[in-house]
Amino acid sequence: MKVIDSPDAMRADLDAARARGMRVGLVPTMGALHAGHLALVRAARERAGYVAASIFVNPTQFGPNEDFARYPRDLDGDVAKLGSAGCDVVFAPNATAMYPAGEQTRVRVGSLAEPLCGAFRPGHFEGVATVVTKLFAIAGPCVSVFGKKDYQQLAILRRVAEDLFLPVQVVGHPIVREADGLAMSSRNAYLSKDERVRALALSRGLGLAARAFVAGERRAGVLRAMVRAEVERVATSIDYVDVADPKSLQVHADEAQVGERTLVAIACRVGSTRLIDNVVLGEDPPPGPG
Ligand code: PAJ
Repeated sequence: MKVIDSPDAMRADLDAARARGMRVGLVPTMGALHAGHLALVRAARERAGYVAASIFVNPTQFGPNEDFARYPRDLDGDVAKLGSAGCDVVFAPNATAMYPAGEQTRVRVGSLAEPLCGAFRPGHFEGVATVVTKLFAIAGPCVSVFGKKDYQQLAILRRVAEDLFLPVQVVGHPIVREADGLAMSSRNAYLSKDERVRALALSRGLGLAARAFVAGERRAGVLRAMVRAEVERVATSIDYVDVADPKSLQVHADEAQVGERTLVAIACRVGSTRLIDNVVLGEDPPPGPG
């Protein structure tokens, strides 16, 4: 499998694939790959004849007190995993290739970027929207696959593609979980043994809400409180436990009755590790073991 670090060489490689009549699929990542990432590659494989993945720890989406410097990096291991998942080419640029001297353009999304993680990570989604727009411009994919684990990110990137008339189909992939329910994440590597056990409260709480919803519970405040109670037991701090509209991402007041599809999303810290998880009630199977 090819590993390419320059945007021009990457575009040339994908132009050649297109010239051979192939549809190009792209899976953007920050590396430290796990089975969740590889599931996205396989989903891209089903939709495109030529599949590219990118590995780039994007500095503009990290806040000054976040984990950019210590974000796990393992290019050789990642390349091997991508090869076995059926990826054709890996784009692994450095920061100056993606943000050359003099660059000054950003992609900023409106109200979708304000609630949930947007309220706690100022500038984060601007960094994500900018780097993914650059990756789309370099690769020109027909299809690009993103995980629902980062639900707000997926919603924002769909909006970016539509608003900027980018000729790419943005596909969402279900959250891939460990057997015990924990959503896979590169950041799970930071968890101690004890924290790894505590982290199960996120999927357990979402599972409780999902079962209550199936049993007929529609009060936003009740759904929110049952998840929050579970998370509070183990979290070092909670950014949010919110019940929101799955399209607009506007958060429901506790007094509201939720609709037939409803997002419940969590962001909290277990120890110093920030974890996120979510479920779309009325759509996803209840998270949890099995
Ligand atoms: P990263 O966290 O590496 O995730 C890359 C892709 O994998 C994202 O689409 C994410 O939603 C997906 N993913 C991660 N864990 C998953 C899981 N357990 N199940 C399903 N999908 C999962 O998200 C980013 O990188 C960056 O913000 C990026 C889009 C690459 C822009 O820099």
